[in-house]
Amino acid sequence: MDSYTQQMHYFGNTNPEELAKKYGTPLYVYNEDILRRQMKRVAGILPNHRFTCNFSIKTNSNLTILKMANEEGLNADAMSPGEIYALKKAGFPSERIFFVPNNVSAEEFQFAIDEGVMTSVDSLSQLELYGKVCPGGRLSVRLNPGIGAGHHEKVVTGGKKTKFGVAAQDIPKVLEIAKKYDLHIVGLNQHIGSLFMDFQPYLDAVSNFLHYAEDFDELEFVDFGGGLGTPYHKLEDEQEFDLPKFKVELDKLLTQWKQKTGRDLLFKMEPGRYVVAEGGVLLGRVHAVKENFGHKYVGTDLGMNVLIRPAMYDSWHDVEVYRDGEAVVSGPRDVFSVVGNICESGDILAKDREMPVAKENDIIVALDAGAYGYSMCSTYNNRLRPAEVLIKSTGEDVLIRRRETLDDLMRLFDVD
Ligand code: LLP
Repeated sequence: MDSYTQQMHYFGNTNPEELAKKYGTPLYVYNEDILRRQMKRVAGILPNHRFTCNFSIKTNSNLTILKMANEEGLNADAMSPGEIYALKKAGFPSERIFFVPNNVSAEEFQFAIDEGVMTSVDSLSQLELYGKVCPGGRLSVRLNPGIGAGHHEKVVTGGKKTKFGVAAQDIPKVLEIAKKYDLHIVGLNQHIGSLFMDFQPYLDAVSNFLHYAEDFDELEFVDFGGGLGTPYHKLEDEQEFDLPKFKVELDKLLTQWKQKTGRDLLFKMEPGRYVVAEGGVLLGRVHAVKENFGHKYVGTDLGMNVLIRPAMYDSWHDVEVYRDGEAVVSGPRDVFSVVGNICESGDILAKDREMPVAKENDIIVALDAGAYGYSMCSTYNNRLRPAEVLIKSTGEDVLIRRRETLDDLMRLFDVD
């Protein structure tokens, strides 16, 4: 039996040991075929409608991956001027970028306006500010559809317990402020939260949202947000998000709405995780194995600075063990906590995990690390952010972001 990454021929012509020797660890490794497969899937979600799919680049803003998304015909959403900047560098024209910020300054709105990027506002207060910065402007309003979903309370962005969006009861006030500044509300957007495998809450939110859309006369588009799930428990055969069924159900709902209202708006979505999570893994080297008071630890260089999701949301990432370039799939197994090299007890990648017995110098492969992995990295403990490598469709490996250096850590100080 091959391991998951072996079955996927994830590492092309090479293997984790060779990659670790060539580029060092920790190392993010992406697979072009998987990334492009997912990009094609989301680009084709609504073939019977006017539809654009915005890749949500907060998941991964590596320039090579952004260029790939551009080639695959995806548009993109940006959460900050920095994300707009990265998208422009990757070749996205302004009209294919949607700025979906939260609590931004007049200067940040101005940045997007100067770049010619469509912007959404997320509160009455931000609508007022936008009106002052850009009277007569065209914009989108982010509504809270009253429904949320997600893998952890920290990532639920719709419903009553979140800072996001304008509540439906405030729509009359939205229209009043828009009138005051002669603003044209040409879009409505929403995002209910991140990572659902059951898409019913999403469909319910779309229904609510479309109902509110009927109050707006000048609409050109509606954006339903992202959140489509990734199966993080693949080694236990967790099934993928059922995209084919989701497409049919969403299509049905939208077709009915179009028939009922006679309106033909541009539909948008903004998935992130679904696009890139599975196309990325994280490699780390085992530097120590120990037992402390009955608990066994595999000590690696995969600290919480490199992948913060387990520490931040108790997220699960499957792990594989590689030894001398081969996956360890048979032999003894035991329960270990796979931990990093950061000075915090919460620096745990996989807690009490039943897994192959790992030894010093083995490589640990954390799966599904392509989304919210590198993009949430930090230099905590003055650790260097890792390199990123792409396994191309040809099977070759190429460096797509170099590892930080000690000099990089000093770059912002006025020192030699
Ligand atoms: N659109 C908006 C407005 C968002 O806030 C988000 C994610 C997305 C789209 C993309 O959602 P996705 O399709 O990736 O679920 N760091 C957390 C997830 C935070 C999600 C933030 N917003 C994690 O690692 O699970």
